[in-house]
Amino acid sequence: MKDFWYELKHVCKQTGARYGILHTPHGDVETPMFMPVGTLATVKGISPEQLKEMGSQVILSNTYHLWLRPGNDVVKKAGGLHKFMNYDGPMLTDSGGFQVFSLGKTRKIEEEGVTFKSIIDGSQLFLSPEKAIQIQEDLGADMIMSFDECAPYPASREYMEKSVARTIRWAKRGKDAHTREDQALFGIVQGGEYPDIREKCAKALVEMDFPGYSIGGTSVGEPKDVMYKMIDDTIPFLPEDKPRYLMGVGNPIDLIEAAIRGIDMYDCVLPTRVARHGALMTHYGRMNINNQKFKYDFTPIDDMCHCYTCRNYTRAYLRHLHKSDEIFGKSLLSIHNVAFLLDLAKDIREAIKEDRLGDFKEEFLDRYGRDVY
Ligand code: GUN
Repeated sequence: MKDFWYELKHVCKQTGARYGILHTPHGDVETPMFMPVGTLATVKGISPEQLKEMGSQVILSNTYHLWLRPGNDVVKKAGGLHKFMNYDGPMLTDSGGFQVFSLGKTRKIEEEGVTFKSIIDGSQLFLSPEKAIQIQEDLGADMIMSFDECAPYPASREYMEKSVARTIRWAKRGKDAHTREDQALFGIVQGGEYPDIREKCAKALVEMDFPGYSIGGTSVGEPKDVMYKMIDDTIPFLPEDKPRYLMGVGNPIDLIEAAIRGIDMYDCVLPTRVARHGALMTHYGRMNINNQKFKYDFTPIDDMCHCYTCRNYTRAYLRHLHKSDEIFGKSLLSIHNVAFLLDLAKDIREAIKEDRLGDFKEEFLDRYGRDVY
């Protein structure tokens, strides 16, 4: 496809992490990058202008949710997701695979696709590789995802073999159905904790020649070391000249560890989701704004943070807003958490460029803590 390519600019001599530029139809972005999640065509509590001011590069939306509400036809009629939500930067949509599979008992997987019940009105719905592509074409993001099965953890080898074989067939069907030249369709590598299955899946997808590759089936309850091994088991089989996206990962420590392992992109709902409950990420570890000790604390959340919230508001004020359940409080806390991860990704890029990501990791962990999740 035209207008989309990955340019590897520098490999960190200390760690092997990659700094690169991803060229997209809606502009160039620097990697490794964190992508804030705007499931329903909005990053909850943060305006597109604020996102830009924070240095957000790509935002992510979901096929499944937008298909159900307001409907892909509505977004298409609006002129696509960019126009609909007034965001003119690069965007990515997930295929719905992850959301559908997290529905548990209410769904049925067959070769043709997945039947499941709508979370909105309980009606019977059917999503297939072709349908997931058609919806994503209507939404019009710059990067779109193949329809895959995100298998549970743990899953038996027998289950995983069958599931991945089907995910590969689905990737091929999606690729055949994809018509928009201005969208980059990524293949998603599955295979759970089985290295040989991940290798097989990666090789089959690379054979189909996608413009980018995702690593899926992570962050599904597996221990950290298993997740890192899943990355290590996949990366060697992915081409150097294509972007690598680790799906659903947004813990600060994982951002650093994944970059060291050769990941270029990640996303997570974590920063906005936990912010709404008063949980904040800081350079000194996690903090909860509800804490009584902040009642008379007129300092910012994090003295190392330069976000809008930290530049303008105190812990005492934010605690008051949060305890009063004020909407503005949720917005300010979300801004801080998202900015924290965007800034961390930026620090990671700077450290890669200067061949010191290993040192950066140690300095970060000394302050942040090594077991903070
Ligand atoms: N988001 C987090 N993990 C996954 C995955 O395995 N597949 C998809 N499609 N989305 C994800």
